[in-house]
This record gives sequence, structure tokens and C-alpha cells, in this order.
Amino acid sequence: MPLIPLVQCLEEAEKGGYGVGAFNVNNMEQLQGIMKAAREMNSPVIVQASRGALRYTNFVYLKHLVQAAVEDNPDIPVVLHLDHGDSLDTVKTAIDLGFTSVMIDGSHLPFEENVALTKEVVDYAHRFGVSVEAELGTLGGIEEDIAGEVQLTDPDQAEEFVKRTGCDALAVAIGTSHGAYKFKAEPKLEIDLVQEIYDRVKIPLVLHGASSVPPELAERINKYGGNIVGSFGVPIPSIQQAIARGVRKINVDTDTRMAMTGAVRQHLAEKPDTIDPREFMGAAREAVYEVVKSRMEAFGSAGHAGDYKPLTLADMIERYNR
Ligand code: G3H
Ligand code: 13P
Ligand code: ZN
Repeated sequence: MPLIPLVQCLEEAEKGGYGVGAFNVNNMEQLQGIMKAAREMNSPVIVQASRGALRYTNFVYLKHLVQAAVEDNPDIPVVLHLDHGDSLDTVKTAIDLGFTSVMIDGSHLPFEENVALTKEVVDYAHRFGVSVEAELGTLGGIEEDIAGEVQLTDPDQAEEFVKRTGCDALAVAIGTSHGAYKFKAEPKLEIDLVQEIYDRVKIPLVLHGASSVPPELAERINKYGGNIVGSFGVPIPSIQQAIARGVRKINVDTDTRMAMTGAVRQHLAEKPDTIDPREFMGAAREAVYEVVKSRMEAFGSAGHAGDYKPLTLADMIERYNR
């Protein structure tokens, strides 16, 4: 099936009461690991590329890698999503490359400017049937917010934001942050805020910074010469509680990065005579597969690939124009 729009994926997830993992991609092995998991788990999947990933892959490689993934996995519903788009220009580039979904991240802007930028992107993207994720509130640890820079998403503002912009999905700030060091000790998240926001906006919510940073991934990296100390991620049960309250898209990047790093370190440490990158990149690919597979099970998307009927961007254009 061709790439599907994010809207379809999140609507199906809503019907089925599950969450869909959105995994960042930067290279072939990472994507192959993700797709192997989706295939084995019979799960829909969101593949997302950051601006850094587009630069790293020189745009065209990313585009064709994802096309290859789709061709190789005709039964798996795949969304190709722009992660943290920063401007209309970046969004236009992604749409030209064939992305079926974009994020415009105006969360650092004052409210009115975030509304204006998001609305501009929504108006543009919907002309092509492309879905739009926006963000309100700033990510960051609640307890470490000494400078008052972390702003959890306000439900009143969220309602107004969604009404005025017409975005399809909303990324919310409930205490998560990007990277391997999300909390100083025990995780603290405002899970109930998800329900409050969802009741007001009634569109699918997105959880950024949702890697779980399992201790075994850090331990493997450290055992073979790394230095990841004091890392804490979002526990899987917290993500499941967020899914039960309206989160449908769960962004995971750090976990697959750590999985790849650990696998490469172990391989090179144990086999110092290795000079064939296929050996350690193959190990990294397998490590990505393991992580993604367990997330698909935990988020509940496993077993749902067959629920999807092909829906094209042309269908979405018609829908947006109704
Ligand atoms: O949210 C950010 C993602 O983890 C992507 O990171 O910009 O280093 O590719 P990146
Ligand atoms: P992590 O750093 O927790 O993997 O978050 C990734 C993310 O939010 C990408 O947009
Ligand atoms: Zn993010």
C-alpha cells in the first residue's frame, strides 16, 4: 500500500484504543530494523525524519530509502512524517519529497505567533492532503524547572489553538523531554493533564520525548567503553496510561540510538579484527528491531496492520475541502 496520511493512522489508533510509535530514521539499517519489527508485529508504523536527518541523508536518499521500505513491505501501513519542522519552507521541502505528514513546531514562539505559523502551514499542507502535527507547551522536566522555562500545555489554550489552526494532531508538554536524561531520579509526569487536554481538543495527542531509556541499553553501552550515567526515561506503564487518555503518536528516537550504539560498541569490542561495516551495522539493525518490536507490543499497535484500507492524499484533499 502507498504511504498513508497521519490522520488515517491516528483515527485507526483511536478506534482500536492503541498508540502508534513514531521512530526517527537517519540511515538504512535503522529503517530496516524498524520495518522488520513492523512486519513481524503486523503493525502500522510512523517513520519520521528530523531536519538533521534530511541534511544527513541529503534529502534524496531519505526519500528513496522510505520508498524502498514501502515497496518491500506492501502490507504495512507506513506514514512518512517530518519531525520538528521549523518553517513553511521546511514543510514545503518535505511535501515535495513525498511526506504524508508534517510537524510544525512553533512551541518556542509566543502563543499568537505559534497560531499564525501553524495556521499558515495547515492551510498549505491540507491543499496537498498532508496531515499536520503542531505543538503547544515546552518540553522539559517538571522538577528541574527552576528557571520556569518549562510550560506544560494549558487545556484552555490548547482548545483555542486547535480551533484556530485546524491542526490534525497536537504535541503536548506533560513533563517529558528529549534525550537520555529526562529525569534526575524517579520520572514525574502529569499524566492526568493528557485527559484534560484531550477532553477539550478532541484530536489525537502526541507524546514527544517518549523514549524509555531502559537501564540495559545504557549498561551495554557502558560495558563496552561508553559513559551514560544517571539516565532516566519514560516508563512504559506511564506511556500506556497516556495512551489510555488520548495519546496516539509516541515519538521514540533515543532508544533506537542507544540500541545501535550498544550493539556497535559490543561488536567492535568483542571482535577487534572487524573491518566489515556490515557486521557491526547488521548488529545495530538487529538491536533496533528488538527495541521497536517491544514498543509496538507495549503501545498496542501490534496486530493492527490489516485494519487499514488504502486512503490517498487525494482522498484527504477531498475531505479537507468538504
Ligand atoms: O526530537 C528530536 C529527534 O530526536 C531528532 O533529533 O535533530 O538530532 O535528528 P535530531
Ligand atoms: P526521545 O529523545 O525521547 O527519543 O524523543 C524523540 C522525539 O520526541 C522526536 O521528536
Ligand atoms: Zn520531539
